[in-house]
Formats: sequence, C-alpha cells, structure tokens
Amino acid sequence: MFLAMRLGVLGAGHVGLPTGAALAHSGHDVWVSDIDTDRIDSLRQGVLPFQEQGLDALIQDGMDSGRLSFVPGLRDHVPGTDVVFICVGTPPRSSGEANLLALESSAAALAEQATGDLLVVEKSTVPLGSAERLRSVMKRHNPSVTFRVASNPEFLKEGNAVDDSLNPSRILVGADSERAHEIMRDVYRPLIERGVPYIEADLRTAELAKHASNAFLSLKISYMNAVARLCEKSGADVVKIAEVMGADARIAPQFLNAGLGYGGFCFPKDVAAFDRLSSRWGYDFPMLREITRINDEVIDVVVQKAEGALWNLEGKRIALLGMSFKPGTDDIRYAPALILAERLLNEGAAIVGYDPEAGDNVRAEHPRIEVEDDVYDAIAGAHCLVLCTEWPEFEYLDLDRAKATMKYPIVIDGRNQLDPERMRKYGFTYLPMGRPPVQP
Ligand code: UDX
Repeated sequence: MFLAMRLGVLGAGHVGLPTGAALAHSGHDVWVSDIDTDRIDSLRQGVLPFQEQGLDALIQDGMDSGRLSFVPGLRDHVPGTDVVFICVGTPPRSSGEANLLALESSAAALAEQATGDLLVVEKSTVPLGSAERLRSVMKRHNPSVTFRVASNPEFLKEGNAVDDSLNPSRILVGADSERAHEIMRDVYRPLIERGVPYIEADLRTAELAKHASNAFLSLKISYMNAVARLCEKSGADVVKIAEVMGADARIAPQFLNAGLGYGGFCFPKDVAAFDRLSSRWGYDFPMLREITRINDEVIDVVVQKAEGALWNLEGKRIALLGMSFKPGTDDIRYAPALILAERLLNEGAAIVGYDPEAGDNVRAEHPRIEVEDDVYDAIAGAHCLVLCTEWPEFEYLDLDRAKATMKYPIVIDGRNQLDPERMRKYGFTYLPMGRPPVQP
C-alpha cells in the first residue's frame, strides 16, 4: 500500500531537480533546497537553471499539485521529514579525487536541524565509504538523534533525466539496517509495484556499483576508440565492427560509437575518482587510467587529422559543429569539442563554433571562440569543418551550400555521423574516425 511521505532533496542541480520532481510525481510531499538561494528564487518563479527535456513541465506539475516546493534554507523543514536525499555536487579535485566538502556540510546542516529519526540518502556519485562518513558526521553534530544512511545512486543521463527518473532501468538501494531498507521500499513503492527492478545491497556495494557501472560504459567507448586507431592504420571500418559486436546480446550495441570520446560532468571525473578510490582501498586498477588515456588520445588524433589536411594550422579557420558534450543538452562541461577547440587555438587556428543549444554557454566561458547562431554562418569561410557533437540536424546539412562557402571542402567527422558515399558525391575530403577516408 502506498503511503505518501515527506521527503527532502538537498541540491537543485542535474540530479536533485529530476529526483525531487519525480518523487513528487509519484505522490510524495517533497521540498528541495540549495545553498544557492538565487537558484531557489528562480525555481519558485518557474525558471530552471539549465535545460533538461520535460523537466520544466514536471516541476510545474509538482508545484501546481502542491507536492513540490523550493525552500531557501533548512530551518523548519527537517523536523517532520522522513527522508532527505543528498544530491549536491562532488566535483573533482586536481588529484582526480572527488571533493566531498558539500556532502559533509550538507550532513552537518541536516544534523543540526534534525529533531527526530532521519534517514539520509546519498544520491550523488560518491566514493566507497562515504555513507559511513556521513553517518559519523551527523552523529557528531547531533548525538541525540538516530541517523540512518542509505546509498541510492542515480543513473540519470542528461537530456533524458526526466524519463530516467520516472522509468528507471533499475533502482539500487544500499543500506546498513533493515529499517532503512523498509523506509526506502516505501519511498519507491509505486515504482516497485510497476515492476521496476529493485536491487538491495549493503552500503559499500551500492557505492561501488555506481562507479563500476559508469567506468564500464566509459571502457566500452575507449575500447572502441582503440579499435578505431587500429582501423585507421589497417584500413578497416570501426562502424561495421561495432555493428557486428553489438549484434551479440552479451556485448549490446550501446556505447560502441568510436569518435571524439566521452565528456560531460560524469564519465571523466568518475573514472578518475574510481581510480583514486581504488588505490586508496589498496587495489591498483591501471585499466581505469588506460580508459582516460585513450579518451585523451582521441583529441590528438583529430588535431593530427586537421594538420594532415591543412598542413599549417596557423591562420586557418576551423568550424566546429556541435559544442555541448553530447546532443540534447546545452551542457559544455568537459565537452570534447571545447577541449579540441582550445588545442586548435593554441596551435594558432581561428575557431568558429555552432551549437543548437550551447552557443551562449560557450560565449560566456570560451571568449576565444567565435560563436555563430546559424550553422551556415559558422561554415562560411572555413578551411575545415569538424563535426564534434552529433546533433540530428547535422545529418541534413545542405552540402552544396556548405561546399560553396567553405575555403576548402574538408570535413573531419568526429562522430561518424555523415554518410561517406554522400560526402564523396558532393566532392568533399571526408575524414571520419576509424573508417577509410574519402578523397575527391
Ligand atoms: C552518464 C551515464 O550514462 C549515466 O548513467 C550516469 O548517471 C551519468 O553519466 P551522461 O553524462 O548524461 O550520463 O552522458 P551519456 O549519455 O552517458 O554520454 C557520455 C559521453 O559519452 C558523451 O560525451 C557521449 O558523446 C559519449 N559517448 C557515448 C561516446 O563517445 N560513444 C558512445 O557510444 C556513447
């Protein structure tokens, strides 16, 4: 039987907002708080801090139903709340280790406000052992209250976070007491009854499973990028190889696309953090460093392709198509396109970029990049075009128009999105990743 509970969410970001809105959608009474009070004010007026498909509607529904609210501080909200989800950022330190300061201060702030039993759940991706740390911080700050902890890692993909929250592929809950597990089953009762796989584990297993999952997806991508390098040397085609491999259900077709590699705020930092935590726990895991090395190498490969085609990069104008870290988002954190842009700028090239959503973010953070709002304005006058992020609209580029305005008809396809035969037909020099090049 479903029992509506009072839930709290700390952190109104890419994880906290879809999580809070989805929990309210399932019938719970949810408050969301953030140390950034301007963000809370904007959310109260229906203004989201970033784009995420369907999130504005889900949040509006929650606010209209009275089940979702945004609160500027914790005072008065913690007492009476059954469960608080911590969804604060865990950005990387320069060592690669996750910075857990926000996690610790959230725990301290919660403990200071708590008056009765409280279950605190970590949703952010955190290193093994963090939940136990959380519990001891809370105990230290407020010894009179019983704090339970659970680990309930998110598996949200940006651009798909609403659907991933409403229809998760699985729910993982790690806890160290049967009472905490009981409470979490009550939280997720509507999804459990709909048949969503619900996996219970101990705390450390749940924490480790999240890092193991993300690193494995990164491994698939880097593996295919290494195969792509071999294809480039031997003349084989990595796209065909991915098709063959993906047809085997044990391998599965997803995340086998070679190209400019992975970016975003999860994979790069999670692989590094997993490596650091692994060695902290006494296990050297060099495979993780290899995943990162291969992902970094891809940028060199594209720079070499550009040099091969253009000879000197100084004074050349290079157009980058797609600058977000993947299609469907305006997020440019650790975007391969921008890592490439900085490299090319340092080699003396002029960079002009176009992205359907991320243009303003690039303008704000990368002043050396000229950003155009129209794809053909970006292409005009370029000596070379590099397709960096596979937005669907790039498949339908007017190639005649592009070729007529480019200085040289050279396209480097960093995502293997375009059809080589079509590129041949239109007379381009076409340089894909791990596939035979096309020369006119
Ligand atoms: C990822 C995980 O998928 C999600 O489960 C986790 O909770 C957070 O991290 P996200 O960062 O939103 O989600 O991105 P995702 O869709 O997984 O893509 C990551 C990167 O890998 C992108 O830069 C994408 O372009 C790249 N990628 C993906 C490839 O280079 N090749 C592929 O085959 C697939």
